[in-house]
Amino acid sequence: MEHVTITPSILYVGTPVALLVTENPDGTANLAPMSSAWALGQVVVLGLGPEGQTAVNLAVRPELTINFPSPDLWPEVERLAPLTGRDPVPSSKPRHRYEPDKFAAAGLTPAPSGRVRPPVVAECPVRFEATAAAVRPDAGGEFVVIEARVLRVHAATDVVVPGTQHVDPARWSPLIYNFRHYFGLGDELGHSFRSETPRVWASAPSKGL
Ligand SMILES: Cc1cc2nc3c(=O)[nH]c(=O)nc-3n(C[C@H](O)[C@H](O)[C@H](O)COP(=O)(O)O)c2cc1C
Repeated sequence: MEHVTITPSILYVGTPVALLVTENPDGTANLAPMSSAWALGQVVVLGLGPEGQTAVNLAVRPELTINFPSPDLWPEVERLAPLTGRDPVPSSKPRHRYEPDKFAAAGLTPAPSGRVRPPVVAECPVRFEATAAAVRPDAGGEFVVIEARVLRVHAATDVVVPGTQHVDPARWSPLIYNFRHYFGLGDELGHSFRSETPRVWASAPSKGL
């Protein structure tokens, strides 16, 4: 395999899209798409621009929900892309416009959470209620790194292996952000020796099979 060295402006090699819901100063909900998120046990580490309304909200009101849309929701996600809940729009976001009701703008529906004040996104099959346990600048000084402790997980019944605590990977696909293009997952290739859901569990055929 031959390689060249390149200097891409972004390093999104394919990460799930998450929709973060946080509480604005007036008690309304802000909804924002992001993809710099990964799980560390029961903590989700989030990377956010410091000037977005989401980071501003989390610095003072740490409760949030982390909602994972399925691939068919990419148009709703992209409708949120040029919007910010920050008013006035910061100069670092010259291509964004202020939108106070991003749920309506996206065509998505808020639904009550159980343990935190911000709502979840009704259309998302997998969603977490969480609290920002740590909010700090990243090493480069450009972003904020948030460690969000997950308090409760919601999963649509049709992506749960019946009678278990497991999400069925044959039935669930995240929406993947791949160098700013949206993808779903392809066919299953195999599973880890640590899988708690080997194919015998799956009551539906694997995606694409
Ligand atoms: C698919 C997608 C992924 C994004 N990922 C991130 C991210 O990981 N971190 C971030 O700060 N902004 C990310 N953004 C940009 C934010 O959504 C954008 O800054 C937005 O203004 C945040 O809204 P807010 O200002 O209301 O918080 C992403 C946008 C899209 C559409």
